[in-house]
Amino acid sequence: MAKPVLLVTRRMPPAIEARATRDFEARLTPSDTPIQAKEIIARAAGADAVLTCPGDHFNDALIGALPDSVKVIATFSVGYDHIDVGEANARGIAVCNTPDVLSLATAECALLLILAASRRAGEGERMIRAKHWHGWAPTQLLGVGAVGRRLGIFGMGRIGRELARMAAGIGMTIHYRDVVRLPPALEAGATYHDNDADFLAVCDVLSLNAPGGGSTRHWLNAARIAQLPRGAVVVNAARGTLVDDVALIAALKTGQIGFAGLDVYDGEPKVNPGYLELENVVLLPHLGSATVATRDAMGFLALDGIDAVLAGRTPGNLVK
Ligand code: DGY
Repeated sequence: MAKPVLLVTRRMPPAIEARATRDFEARLTPSDTPIQAKEIIARAAGADAVLTCPGDHFNDALIGALPDSVKVIATFSVGYDHIDVGEANARGIAVCNTPDVLSLATAECALLLILAASRRAGEGERMIRAKHWHGWAPTQLLGVGAVGRRLGIFGMGRIGRELARMAAGIGMTIHYRDVVRLPPALEAGATYHDNDADFLAVCDVLSLNAPGGGSTRHWLNAARIAQLPRGAVVVNAARGTLVDDVALIAALKTGQIGFAGLDVYDGEPKVNPGYLELENVVLLPHLGSATVATRDAMGFLALDGIDAVLAGRTPGNLVK
């Protein structure tokens, strides 16, 4: 029996490409950067499924131009703000993502940003590489630390809760803001805030862990930044669209925000040039889920979703 046809729009980890080639007539892509929409459309001819990832924009135009043969689009990510799910579903195309398997790695990255920003690790690294370090000094690169401080988590989903657990483990006090309060077992001692003002007022450190998309676009704007304690630390390992970059850059300059740690950017891979001029920001290139084991687990889960849809089953990782 002929194997189903799978278009893979980006280079994938070896174990994922091996399974794709074993189970599908796989149309692999050797590139680490997005290919053009018109190439995706041309190469999707006769395909049953598409495996894609953030950075490939499956907007209404691209989805509308896919052949009728495509039954499922799986994204190698938990976030699916790069896919017009409504348009896909309207065309009878299921969409799958990769929840759970990357929560630990992404929370670890958020914690890394909290520590690196609070302790000025980026500045220290740059100082040594520039050969500007002349030895230990009592006043050199004094940070604010994280232990004993209040961490506010905006978006207490799977990743937010993993971060809460890790940060509580190093002695931070956890506060959170979300649309609904969690049951006590999931809240695990964290303090819920049902409004932004009360929440922001207690955030010595603010971590953004909410999904991207229209409803959270530029949530961290000048008005909310003004409600944070002066000198607060802000980290974002979720989506760049959550932050109004102009407002954050201005606040980093005035000291309203003491330090920031960013893994994601509005319009990435473009990074607002204002950040590049600031010493008090740690910048990572969207590394949240970037461990070997996590990326393999993400790929396997995405392929599981494709297998299920093509077999007529409803996958557990179906985006609804
Ligand atoms: C996701 O899965 O949405 C991440 O941003 C990719 O690591």
